[in-house]
Amino acid sequence: MMTMTMTSEPPVRSSYLSGNYEPIQSEVTADLQIIAGVIPQDLNGVFARNGANPRFEPKGRYHWFDGDGMIHAVEFGNGSATYRNRYVRTAALAADLDAGECLAAGILEPPDFSRAEGPYKDTANTDLVFHAGQLLAVWWLGGEPHVVRLPDLETLGVQSHDGKRTCGLSAHPKLDMHTGELMWIDHQPFPPYLTYGVISATGELVHQTPIDLPGARLQHDLAITPNYSILMDMSMMFEPSALARGKVKLGFYPDTPSRFGLIPRFGTNEDIRWFDAEPMFMYHTVNAWESGDEVVLVGCRIDQPFTDAAPSSADRVPAIANLRLAPAFHEWRFNVRTGTCRERQLDDVYAEFPRMDNRLLGRASQFSYHQRCAETSTLLFDGVVKYDYLNGCAAQTHSYETGWFGGETVFAPRDGSTSEDDGYLITFVVHEGTGESELHVLDAQRIADAPVCRLSIAQRVPTGYHTWWVDAASVANQRPL
Ligand SMILES: [Fe+2]
Repeated sequence: MMTMTMTSEPPVRSSYLSGNYEPIQSEVTADLQIIAGVIPQDLNGVFARNGANPRFEPKGRYHWFDGDGMIHAVEFGNGSATYRNRYVRTAALAADLDAGECLAAGILEPPDFSRAEGPYKDTANTDLVFHAGQLLAVWWLGGEPHVVRLPDLETLGVQSHDGKRTCGLSAHPKLDMHTGELMWIDHQPFPPYLTYGVISATGELVHQTPIDLPGARLQHDLAITPNYSILMDMSMMFEPSALARGKVKLGFYPDTPSRFGLIPRFGTNEDIRWFDAEPMFMYHTVNAWESGDEVVLVGCRIDQPFTDAAPSSADRVPAIANLRLAPAFHEWRFNVRTGTCRERQLDDVYAEFPRMDNRLLGRASQFSYHQRCAETSTLLFDGVVKYDYLNGCAAQTHSYETGWFGGETVFAPRDGSTSEDDGYLITFVVHEGTGESELHVLDAQRIADAPVCRLSIAQRVPTGYHTWWVDAASVANQRPL
């Protein structure tokens, strides 16, 4: 068993506060200037990206996941582009602003269970999803989805789902664009360790049910198909003895199988079928679908998630605290007739933050776009890999120029898009040395080509997390809080 104590003393100030990660405090609105290419006329909507940007000096030791949520967005319309960035105005940020300092310590410090708001700040800093007419900013550790208006990025408040949702909502809820339903989980270190639910196309909470796990598990994602949601019980666990002492400590059990639970979309714990698989940890799934007797899941699997399991790779495999990011494209096939699982690695390139055409989420898909991990100690992406699942996972690759690192590439269908990869990849790209920041638009069918356009941004865009594309019609038809 490998363990990580979240209260261990890091040797130096976090690397996730400097370089491309250094927070900014300005909130600006600015038209973007074209460096090269042309802004496509058939790209109309808003590209938005969430991320951690601490407003005040962190209280205690800093972990990259701690910072206040800040959204950077670019509005495209008729061949022009406007950039904005704004904090997500959470209650925790408001309290800090009133106090003039950061009030809550992060996850590297002992949890403060005396806080009425919970031991850690709900920063809404992790994920974005546009659902039922609202852009929701979502936290990795289950919190309150915050409604952010487009295009001005004003935080309208918390989406409580009429108070029916009795727990938090974690990254990464999954949207079925065929039904409009949003499937979600909430995970906590205390019972119920996992909760699963469904929100309807009109934004009503229509299902919520606790899931019986043998203990607290680190979770980050789920997957969906038309009939099932896929929940995870991975080999990464919160140590029960530490929790009993009020501490948070993670352990990886390389001899304990990971389990995947297929639950009918509106099922309960009694309906789940669990499938054993090889031990692993995974932040992000890519997609899942049904194929005959099988349910297929593809994702970014990490074989050895702790740095001390592979210390010789420390200089070329990124890490966040003691967790190493060595994710490879992987497939699991769950046979619902025999109850067995087959799995295989699809590629050996380390790449993460996978994106795909969200119109096919939960249905068989051919293409996905993964950010290639640079050989750096922190998580930076030096290129994009486009996998073709139907052709042996053959890949196209787009590499950024030396010294430049990109973020998650959202897939934006072009207006009138007729096929799965008929659209654009959009991402922020930043120079590590100078902080120069650009927005790149790639042709998703030819990602190895030079960008369709490169746009200059007037300020540095710190490295962040997850993205979403909202088309112009959806922007025009937003639902108030
Ligand atoms: Fe994530």
